[in-house]
Amino acid sequence: MRIVLGVGGGIAAYKVASLLRLFTEAGHDVTVIPTEASTRFVGTATWEALSGNPVSNSVFDDVHQVNHVRLGHEADLIVIAPATADLLAKAATGQAGDLLTNTLLMARGPVLFAPAMHTEMWQHPATQANVETLRSRGSAVLEPASGRLTGADSGPGRLPEPDAIFDAAMALVDGQADFQLPLAGRIVTISAGGTREPLDPVRFLGNRSSGKQGVALAVAARNAGATVRLLAAHMDVPPPSGVEVVPVETALQLREAALAAAADSDVVIMSAAVADFRPAAVSDTKIKKRDDRDDPVITLVRNPDILHELVERRNSAAPGGRQQLIVGFAAETGDSDGDVLAHARAKLQRKGCDLLVVNHVGTDKVFGQDTNSVVILARSGSEPQEASGTKTEVSAAVISRIGHELNSVSPRA
Ligand code: C5P
Repeated sequence: MRIVLGVGGGIAAYKVASLLRLFTEAGHDVTVIPTEASTRFVGTATWEALSGNPVSNSVFDDVHQVNHVRLGHEADLIVIAPATADLLAKAATGQAGDLLTNTLLMARGPVLFAPAMHTEMWQHPATQANVETLRSRGSAVLEPASGRLTGADSGPGRLPEPDAIFDAAMALVDGQADFQLPLAGRIVTISAGGTREPLDPVRFLGNRSSGKQGVALAVAARNAGATVRLLAAHMDVPPPSGVEVVPVETALQLREAALAAAADSDVVIMSAAVADFRPAAVSDTKIKKRDDRDDPVITLVRNPDILHELVERRNSAAPGGRQQLIVGFAAETGDSDGDVLAHARAKLQRKGCDLLVVNHVGTDKVFGQDTNSVVILARSGSEPQEASGTKTEVSAAVISRIGHELNSVSPRA
């Protein structure tokens, strides 16, 4: 197979030497086209030596061969790694300033982008819009891996491992992979808002959850191609368009709706603030203030832990529990027993979910606000991932992580 390997100007270019090796060892004929910037990280001599083919990124070399036409037409596959924010932007807007971008415009076969950049650049709406454009035109854009980036930062933005890019490229050529959108074909159930536990026909015990985070998650999951069910407890914001809304009031109603929706969901995200307790008795009539009686005492009983139950049901349906991804949220404060992360890790263990999105809360933080700062903990033990910004940005990070988890595990039916 003839492969064009476009190398973008990012530090991850050094890992692409291993990818090139995988291609050549599998018997493919690879022409490397490095961008000008990428040659500051890895020189053309490396690409020439490893590929055994001449290397250039100029449309003015070997003009008689009209290289951009020839390479674009002849390539059975084009792989861009690392696909920098700049290259994604150039590809999305059809720029043609060098041999690589010209070749992309001439491509007849499949094109795979393997992005690598800092998390902020990846999550920037401009980059996300470019990715969406490329996917809508049929190119495959991998989700970047999560973890340590070049500096002290970590998060989504690492170049996927060469093996993963190689596998994705082969699957793409075989027509097996659907990289159009990371959650295409997935059913995602999301609970949002705060439950209300009635005391009588007019009163309830509630909480401060606004539903903004859950709604932002629903939008991000919808935009990632998922079929979204929003189990909406009390919310201060309207539900988004394009998602199925199941209104619920109490924790018991949410439990029923969540267990029913989970039956055919690929992902369940419990972002609702579920009341841990409910009044033991609900009065049919308004509880009256009476001077001739003692003040009423409200007895509370514990609500079921829906998240924990979802995990138990999932695990008993499929031993090992890998068929469905379950994500919990935790609003934590540190105390004398441990800091926020210590409490969150213990909660992850207790609940048994796959990912736990941890908020640090105070009365002025998180609830009702438009911004958020979270840490995503994984049961698999991979490094905690931080995400902060608007609830939209945090949701994009959570959904991107979910897409990565789903797509890096075996494909789900
Ligand atoms: O135990 P805690 O309430 O801190 O856990 C928070 C997580 O558990 C959230 O994902 C929340 O939606 C879920 N939860 C639940 N059922 C409860 C209480 C919390 O599913 N009764």
